[in-house]
Amino acid sequence: MAREIGDVLFDADAIARRVRDLGRQLTETYRGREPVLVAIMKGCVLFLADLVRAWDGPMDLEFITAESYEGTEPGQVRLAVPDGFADRVAGRPVLVVDDIFDTGATLEAVRETLTRLGAEEVRTVVFLRKHGPEGAAAAQADSRRRPQPDWVGFDVPDRFLVGYGLDLDGRYRNLPYVAAVRDG
Ligand code: IMP
Ligand code: MG
Repeated sequence: MAREIGDVLFDADAIARRVRDLGRQLTETYRGREPVLVAIMKGCVLFLADLVRAWDGPMDLEFITAESYEGTEPGQVRLAVPDGFADRVAGRPVLVVDDIFDTGATLEAVRETLTRLGAEEVRTVVFLRKHGPEGAAAAQADSRRRPQPDWVGFDVPDRFLVGYGLDLDGRYRNLPYVAAVRDG
């Protein structure tokens, strides 16, 4: 294991169980409808692939990119959507899929864009949420001002995490578990 990788928070089995649970809940919620899943690249790819296989019902997939990080520091959110995206979400129920909810700025930007493009409904599912029960009080107050995700895989402490899609400057996305980056 690389020296900068520290404690493992969730191993592959724990992740698989939780993602199957979410898949079952989403199957029930969207029964009789055909949502468009809008996946925020690239962090959500592993979560997305497992989630849709645990989902028993029709859906379509769209991909957008949102970049808000330089190293481990949050910055401005930059969104990029593909050609024809607006036509494919207008009037449809949309479920946004992201890897991790930190300040909430990314989901807020995506939600605003989808609403402007005429999505019938916008809901959100994230694999991880920082600043849950164990989050730092100030950061928690800040993120709690933003709309919260509708479904959360796991609440996590305020540490920089990698694996299962999450990266540190492009590395470690392929780890099958979620681990914290060592300080210093
Ligand atoms: P937010 O806009 O502050 O909610 O940040 C959300 C985005 O920042 C996520 O989609 C991730 O791409 C990235 N991010 C936030 N925290 C982490 C982390 O601990 N590890 C890797 N990426 C993170
Ligand atoms: Mg991301």
